[in-house]
Amino acid sequence: MFVLVNLKTYPCDPVAVAEAVRDVDETTDARLAVAPAATHIERVAETGAETWAQHVDPIDHGSNTGHALAEHVADAGAVGTLINHSERRLKLADIDGTVRAAQRADLETIVCANNPAQIGAAAALGPDAVAVEPPELIGTGTPVSQADPDVVEDAVAAAADVDPDVSVLCGAGISTGDDVVAAGDLGAGGVLLASGVAKADDPKAALEDLVAPL
Ligand code: G3P
Repeated sequence: MFVLVNLKTYPCDPVAVAEAVRDVDETTDARLAVAPAATHIERVAETGAETWAQHVDPIDHGSNTGHALAEHVADAGAVGTLINHSERRLKLADIDGTVRAAQRADLETIVCANNPAQIGAAAALGPDAVAVEPPELIGTGTPVSQADPDVVEDAVAAAADVDPDVSVLCGAGISTGDDVVAAGDLGAGGVLLASGVAKADDPKAALEDLVAPL
């Protein structure tokens, strides 16, 4: 299972969380990674933790003030990027352009979507993975894998119909190892989570709990 921890702009220490991700990754067969804010990518990547961006823009080198260029994000140490997170929505053409920009820079891609219908559309754009996250469950502590298992199963089916090589993650409210196991049982290849680790008193203990049953 792939466990990707999105730090959003939570007031945690991104380097400390990254060190915990790196250390716990060494103890498990699961794949752990962390997605810090753009300005923290370089410091986080220097810890040795697998580092992802939360967003890049559908642009090339040039006159693009205030944008995040995929090549710059890769140079800073990121190996992949989230695209179209629920809190950073894009138009379809921009999702497509962002997947191409990330691929140009050799960044792995996960396109997020609200529901199975959007997952099918996202999978058609050729990302490495898609992630289904019902917005109403984000940050609630109520895990999608238990509160809305149909949405995960339907997302897995929708992606498989379009492209069986596109892996499916699920996210929203995931915080325990049982939630991760439930996600895997529904066909997900990983989970995308944030508050369960970023807001935990002890992020390393939270990560250990997430991977314990795997
Ligand atoms: O990107 C992960 C996210 O939106 C889920 O957040 O806090 O419910 O784990 P959370």
